[in-house]
Amino acid sequence: MNNRTVGAIDDTALEEQRRFASLVFDINEAYFSQTGRHRLALTHSYGCQQNVADGEKLNGQLAEMGYGFTDNADEADIIIYNTCAVREHAEDRVYGNLGALKHNKRRKPNMLIGVCGCMTQQEHVAEKIKKSYPYVDMVFGTYAIHKLPEMVYGTLLNRKRVFDLEERQNYITEGLPVRHDGTLKAWLPVMYGCNNFCTYCIVPYVRGRERSRSSETIIAEAKQLVESGFKEIMLLGQNVNSYGNTTPGELSFAELLKRINAIEGDFRIKFMTSHPKDATAELFNAIAQSEKVERHIHLPVQCGSNRILKLMNRGYTAEKYLETIELARQTIKDAAFTSDIIVGFPGETYEDFKETLALLDKVRYDALFTFIYSSRQGTRAAEMEDPVPYKDKTEWFAELLKVQSKIAVEQYQKKIGSVVRVLAEAKGKTEGSLSGKTEHGTTCEFPAHEQLLGSFVNVKVTDAQNWSLVGEIQQ
Ligand code: SAH
Ligand code: SF4
Ligand code: F3S
Repeated sequence: MNNRTVGAIDDTALEEQRRFASLVFDINEAYFSQTGRHRLALTHSYGCQQNVADGEKLNGQLAEMGYGFTDNADEADIIIYNTCAVREHAEDRVYGNLGALKHNKRRKPNMLIGVCGCMTQQEHVAEKIKKSYPYVDMVFGTYAIHKLPEMVYGTLLNRKRVFDLEERQNYITEGLPVRHDGTLKAWLPVMYGCNNFCTYCIVPYVRGRERSRSSETIIAEAKQLVESGFKEIMLLGQNVNSYGNTTPGELSFAELLKRINAIEGDFRIKFMTSHPKDATAELFNAIAQSEKVERHIHLPVQCGSNRILKLMNRGYTAEKYLETIELARQTIKDAAFTSDIIVGFPGETYEDFKETLALLDKVRYDALFTFIYSSRQGTRAAEMEDPVPYKDKTEWFAELLKVQSKIAVEQYQKKIGSVVRVLAEAKGKTEGSLSGKTEHGTTCEFPAHEQLLGSFVNVKVTDAQNWSLVGEIQQ
């Protein structure tokens, strides 16, 4: 194991977990020989790509413990909710779904229920789950995913609830088994945590400080994914542009992109998320020189008012952001941009909001992920005055969507006549067609034989519909 990172959960600790996994495996095998039925697991990840990538590690470990998988909660012998804390809505969904599990547990008292992920890493939430959901057997945080076998073994054997909410701040866990959700697209985390402390955001509190995986490990994993037939690798981090910053001597993210691009094979590289304050000419040059990297940058601006950007602690002004976009446009031919926007940050006025609309008009994003501000306990913004009624915020939100949908239609129209490279990922909405994403991250649908599923095809765009392009394969 490479120990250049701040610290790695050591091999002995992981070996111990493998031992627990094999003990659970034996228990599950014994159950199978008695009943003729394999025990089944259901995991659900509620959050971002990092959270989904964690979910694949939960599944990898569950597979090692001899569990099969199901989507049906009534069939499951173990259910794990891998939660997200980024907005209140995300948390409410978990509470709702957890409430419903009470009946499952009543019908099937031997089943196990676990809750993990970002929500549980907040003390008040962990307390609430412990008290109000007594039928939850395991509550564990974002730092304890590798301890799943031990927790499952303990609860299976002793029927005692287990909690692991310890903050293993500077640690990275390598070597966990991963059960990929698909066969075409793979997540590849390059770093964990965040140091930015945007004032609205809970992520740094629940995910800890920034720590990068070693580039050797990442590159080796990327090679393996390509060899196993994956066609798209999504490099993940809360702020990939600061990759390596906390590890002396480590590659920059731009260099990492180039090295992964140099891996032989027919695949595409994506990455998420780039923080505008750290998006540099070096990064844009690397993208321009790396033909496998998509021509799309997700560069969340959050809002267009300098006053609010400062209160958000984002580390750039609207002008600086626009310069960054301009630099990217000059460096990367035909670059597409998407962004995240928060409406109704504490103290935001309609005047501030109009500056966001003005910025959208200047940048002309292909797509936006839009959110109404949600107060998160423990963050600095949660202490700020928030006088604007929620109803007003929803009206601004609707206005934002209207402005953006007009821009998106225009952006899509501009693509008619061009030839795009699409990874044929799934059957399209129309009979006899396939659909997939272009190098700009846009959905495109085209008539094609199913045999082409999983390959890259060149498509001439003939029409632009709402949120997708339509085209024909170019021979
Ligand atoms: N690290 C990424 C974002 C991770 S969270 C970045 O900095 O871009 C994804 C998005 O959720 C953020 O970009 C932001 O738009 C939104 N978000 C985060 N906290 C929020 C909150 N408290 N209320 C509303 N939206 C929020
Ligand atoms: Fe949250 Fe900001 Fe970190 Fe993104 S960069 S995860 S918004 S604190
Ligand atoms: Fe949610 Fe945690 Fe991701 S809070 S957005 S699952 S890092």
